[in-house]
Amino acid sequence: MPEAVYRFPKNFLWGSATAAHQVEGNNTNNNWYYWENQPGKIVNGDKAGLACDWWEGRWKGDLEQAAKDGQNAHRFSVEWSRIQPTENSWDVDALANYREMAEGMARMGIRPVVTLHHFTDPLWIFEEGGWENDRTVGYFADYVRQVVSTLKDYVDLWVTINEPVVYTASGYLEGSFPPGKNNLGAAFRVMRNLIKGHAAAYRIIHEMQPQAMVGVAKHFRAMQPARWWFLPDIWITRFTSGSFNDAFSNTLVKGKFRFALRSERIPEAVGTQDFVGVNYYSLDKVVVKPFDIKSLFHRRFYPKEAEISETGFIANLPEGMFLALDWARRFKLPIYITENGVEDSLDELRPNYLARHLHQVWRAANFNWNIKGYFYWTQVDNFEWERGWTQRFGLWHLNVETQERIRHKSAELYAKVCKENALSSETVRKYAPDAFDLLFPT
Ligand code: FCB
Repeated sequence: MPEAVYRFPKNFLWGSATAAHQVEGNNTNNNWYYWENQPGKIVNGDKAGLACDWWEGRWKGDLEQAAKDGQNAHRFSVEWSRIQPTENSWDVDALANYREMAEGMARMGIRPVVTLHHFTDPLWIFEEGGWENDRTVGYFADYVRQVVSTLKDYVDLWVTINEPVVYTASGYLEGSFPPGKNNLGAAFRVMRNLIKGHAAAYRIIHEMQPQAMVGVAKHFRAMQPARWWFLPDIWITRFTSGSFNDAFSNTLVKGKFRFALRSERIPEAVGTQDFVGVNYYSLDKVVVKPFDIKSLFHRRFYPKEAEISETGFIANLPEGMFLALDWARRFKLPIYITENGVEDSLDELRPNYLARHLHQVWRAANFNWNIKGYFYWTQVDNFEWERGWTQRFGLWHLNVETQERIRHKSAELYAKVCKENALSSETVRKYAPDAFDLLFPT
């Protein structure tokens, strides 16, 4: 049997990622709390509820465990509605709690990486029109100033906005996120304002902390024409991938925002990223639908032969990770994989998914692409937005009623990788034997 070790670059960051609303519990002052309380919006009527109880302190146990398992970083988000509960008030206790978290992580040897906006908006922002309202850009800037001045002793790696295009498409085109609209004009305005918010945050952070590294966690969806020989499929794939993958990030280079056949100049966005954050989960085939305006003339689906996750959400297609990194390197900046993972309550598919995706990360790093870190989504099962508790992404299972955590085999696989800064044949043989022949062919 072949023995080999795929080693990662020195000083690689190994972590997991979370978001405030999904783990903290009792966030009752944001747009998602509102959404959870509207009938029919969340699968099974699930609610975030106590989530993983991080706000009351359980972050400590979960991250101590992560540190013990060799992780040296954690990406988490700060909840705007806690810090600025109303337009004219700042909650100093909430700020202090986040400072304690960042300090605690640093003490454990976990580098805290902070996301400033991860899908949630305070209710008062939501009621004033959310990111459709141009004034939200200025409000966001004020909030960022508060967070950075509180956390800058511990944090110098910042994600301004998580998945701006998913936020926009889900809330303003598909209607699965609040406010549940289907309105292209509104989507354009929201994304334009998110870009402006990002640019403002970038400047504020650098003003307060010149050495900071600032970026966006961009969901990259690999897309391929369903029929490689059929021109309309090729065109629609290009158009869809351009809107979903490129529109936001290209504006940070060119200062011109082009989305859904519209465009607008945003010159202040140029040069506002120091690294590229990539969230990669899966790859789609794309087929043209000429008369379907509502779907923007296309349909996406998983290849027939692909292995599909428990609720059909993700196809196990690691080559898409390589495509995502190939996309990211065009910006000629350091790259972090800010999210990657799979929902799998029984941890049957995850070891294979994890080993094979890490192998693609290694492949890219081995071409000397500037990859600096990897964050698994997620440490402990958490509240998955409109899919509620039906999707379990955790390295650890969570019993939502009792808050008990149960370790999956994948947690052990990941611990081995983090501790050794490598993916070895021994690890794969032990934890993901079904991936062995693929990763270590004779
Ligand atoms: C991403 C989100 C994250 C989590 C994963 C599964 O789109 O950023 O919060 O829900 O999907």
